[in-house]
Amino acid sequence: MMNQTLEIKIKKTATSKLPQTDFDNLVFGQTISDHMFIADYKDGRWDNFRIEPYAPLSLNPANATLHYGQSVFEGMKAYKNEQGEILIFRADANQKRLNESAKRLCIPEVPEDLFMEGLLTLLETDSNWIPSKPGYSLYIRPFIFATDDYLGIRPSATYKFMIFTCPVGHYYAKPVKVKVETHYTRAAEGGTGFAKAAGNYAGSLYPALLAQKEGYDQLLWTDGKSHKNIEESGTMNVMFVIDGKLITAPVSTGTILKGITRDSVLTLARSWGLPVEERFLSIEELQSALENGKLQEAFGTGTAATIAHIALINLNGKDYTLPQKSDSAFSWKVLETLDAIKYGRTEDPFGWIIKV
Ligand code: COI
Repeated sequence: MMNQTLEIKIKKTATSKLPQTDFDNLVFGQTISDHMFIADYKDGRWDNFRIEPYAPLSLNPANATLHYGQSVFEGMKAYKNEQGEILIFRADANQKRLNESAKRLCIPEVPEDLFMEGLLTLLETDSNWIPSKPGYSLYIRPFIFATDDYLGIRPSATYKFMIFTCPVGHYYAKPVKVKVETHYTRAAEGGTGFAKAAGNYAGSLYPALLAQKEGYDQLLWTDGKSHKNIEESGTMNVMFVIDGKLITAPVSTGTILKGITRDSVLTLARSWGLPVEERFLSIEELQSALENGKLQEAFGTGTAATIAHIALINLNGKDYTLPQKSDSAFSWKVLETLDAIKYGRTEDPFGWIIKV
């Protein structure tokens, strides 16, 4: 645990929900741990740091977030190793990304000590909520949102930074079926696609729902300009193994989330000597790789999704079933290696783990 420098008031719940929680049947994001961390932003600074029992917030109907969506969030995970110690995966990267998102939405940044001390104090308070079963973890949701009660359009002058956590299993219980979307747009250059902004997710719901009605789990978004290049999947970045090369869309256009799992997978692949290409894969190239058998693997990468095998891709109106995931698949190896690092079963050569 780092040296604490901030004063965080802790008010614990009198009635823990732990005894009623069925850790064998966790639905992602439905079971919430006992406490939450809160900080208030007012008069140009963050103040009033506290841990309280998880409870509803009281909001004025004129709350700016409800109307104009000035809100950003993060997703990360904590694990327990065999000794029962708490390990957090790459929280420093999440803190930086939260602030990149915040800047784009005119939201004040959260200093590193506030983010880390709030997080570590919350995890210590709710340490019994961190599952120890393989494949399970504690999903951590930090977020910042505007709290001004004002209907004029302007950046709010007040905000809340909060963190709460949920014990979780797999986000996708089985390999996913995706549809390449060439009409609707998730993000355009100059927009907010790189940010974890609430509005990005709101705008993706309708097109995703249409695809779900046709039997697909998710969309593979294409670029907003030409709709010819694969970008990401909304809940995760996407990667393809074609002809022995790992290909994923670059983040330089600002239209794709800079996934921390994405970065971790690319780092591992490069360290293993696998050729990595951060470049756009066109629909045409994807289709010919599917048709001539050169597509070996396709998978999503994300904090919630971890490594999600793609079983089927619908493209230009046609369903392509992908090869079964073999035991030697890159996505297996990378999933197993990441899990071994996250659960502390192996050394952590990249300094990704923070021990609480
Ligand atoms: C995450 O992976 O943390 C995300 O924010 C994705 C969300 C759809 C659960």
